[in-house]
Amino acid sequence: MRNTSRRVVVVGTGFVGTSIAYAMVNQGITNELVLIDVNQDKAQGEALDLLDGIAWARENVKIWSGTYADCKEADVVVITAGANQKPGQTRLELVDINAKIMREIVQSVMATGFDGCLVIAANPVDVLTYVAWQTSNLPYSRVIGTGTTLDTTRFRKELALKLNIDPRSVHGYIIGEHGDSEVAVWSHTTVGAKPILELVVNNQYLTVDDLDEIAEKVKNAAYEIIDRKQATYYGIGLSTARIVKAILNNEQAILPVSAYLDGEYNQRDIFTGVPAIVNQNGVREIIELRIDPKEKLQFQASVDQLRQVLASVKS
Ligand code: 2OP
Repeated sequence: MRNTSRRVVVVGTGFVGTSIAYAMVNQGITNELVLIDVNQDKAQGEALDLLDGIAWARENVKIWSGTYADCKEADVVVITAGANQKPGQTRLELVDINAKIMREIVQSVMATGFDGCLVIAANPVDVLTYVAWQTSNLPYSRVIGTGTTLDTTRFRKELALKLNIDPRSVHGYIIGEHGDSEVAVWSHTTVGAKPILELVVNNQYLTVDDLDEIAEKVKNAAYEIIDRKQATYYGIGLSTARIVKAILNNEQAILPVSAYLDGEYNQRDIFTGVPAIVNQNGVREIIELRIDPKEKLQFQASVDQLRQVLASVKS
């Protein structure tokens, strides 16, 4: 009989790892879920707690707290471990400590013979995805950062709130760094199929003057939340679950993940958030947008920023 199990291992059972796990169980995305943490009791407690609700879940899911040995048979390993931002701290300031943690984890995962997709959900995500790829020796297509998936859902939500339209009918992307230099791609944002730059002409709910404010709000969303509750996790939980679903179901979905650029957008040898087709092999292809000159400059500045930080930790 064909083995139809879909195994996802989540490394790190802090707020982010457990929110990803909860989103996956809720949506029936996987049927084997393994939680790993340096604090084994914590991983075990989280697994037991999740399992308690399983009779009400969409699908039966085997959930257990495991060890790296469980990665050998995994389709996807999601890495969330690392320090997170304190109020006022930028994502880039976490790089030294988190690059070290990322290398150790990826080495442990790869030592098992793991041959699936790595999904990175720790900050600074674009830089750590590069570090994970370099450490893993996997093809770059199989190492994916959560990139600007979270910023993109924030962006769609902000526009949707202004316009009183379902966020799923608002289309557009934030690209570049998942962080302070990210870029809102207004030139390719549409509501339904209508370009936003046409829609704002004589619109009573949204004017062209609101756009910069919306982009700023999206960029600062994490700071706003961290100031109030010290962390963000539900948004990244749903965003990461969305990526894992696209991989496990071989969806060919276009998602703004942190992907390796090999000439696209005139960039090479860097991971950053760009719309890309995601399937069971990871990133199948990057769909390059013909962004406008202002966006090009902003994107270049964002990549330059990432290169600078990457240089400080690249081995
Ligand atoms: C977020 O944007 C902190 O990167 C995390 O919510």
